[in-house]
Amino acid sequence: MTAIFVTATGTDVGKTFVTVGLIRYLCTAGRAGDAIKPVVSGFDPQDLASSDPGILLDALGRPAADLDRISRWRFAAPLSPAMAARREGRPIDFNALIDFSRRAVVGHRDIMFIEGVGGIMVPIDDTHTVLDWMSAMRLPLLLIAGSYVGTMSHTLTALQVLARRNLEVAAVVVSESADSAAPLEETVATIARFADAIEVIGIPRLPRDASPHPAFGRIVALL
Ligand SMILES: Nc1ncnc2c1ncn2[C@@H]1O[C@H](COP(=O)(O)OP(=O)(O)OP(=O)(O)O)[C@@H](O)[C@H]1O
Ligand SMILES: [Mg+2]
Repeated sequence: MTAIFVTATGTDVGKTFVTVGLIRYLCTAGRAGDAIKPVVSGFDPQDLASSDPGILLDALGRPAADLDRISRWRFAAPLSPAMAARREGRPIDFNALIDFSRRAVVGHRDIMFIEGVGGIMVPIDDTHTVLDWMSAMRLPLLLIAGSYVGTMSHTLTALQVLARRNLEVAAVVVSESADSAAPLEETVATIARFADAIEVIGIPRLPRDASPHPAFGRIVALL
């Protein structure tokens, strides 16, 4: 049994995309991935299919009725979780979040992916960020980054912060950004030069229903 926390240098860089790619890869390899997205903002129940929990449920082949099981804290405002929760008068109970995440990991077979929310230091409540959530979980991380111009500073800064908390980074995954002026392979090689011994793997821009790219197999081999 393995559990991995999927985090990122920021919002919208590819956490869900990479998690789905890994679940699909595992499926074709005769294995079973599972995933939770405990906290989501910008959630519209009328449009479950395009939400993160909806996309993960679809990849897992699970019904909409399982929504609460994979995603407990859902907020409408497309803001940081702390801000979105405040607007609904429903603050996230940090201890309950840790409990929910730990329960998902315990007793699970094969690989469980916990998708974080936003980047590594987005506030969850008035005193905790995603970094505190990851520190409490003590799971190996996948750090997802984009390939846009500016990603190298964002990614290396994130690695420094994670190292200061002694968090283990299983791999950095550079998911190619739309219309990126910087070439993917050059960005991957540059980050790798500064990332000590951490593996850095690039995922090219892929069509939505492409069969799993071999890079997902390289990531799975590191988990
Ligand atoms: N390599 C890629 N090829 C094609 N599309 C991609 C790739 N990486 C990311 N995307 C697309 O970019 C958009 C943002 O990615 P995604 O939703 O996975 O980000 P995220 O980090 O999970 O965001 P959030 O912080 O909202 O959870 C999505 O439409 C996703 O399908
Ligand atoms: Mg996501």
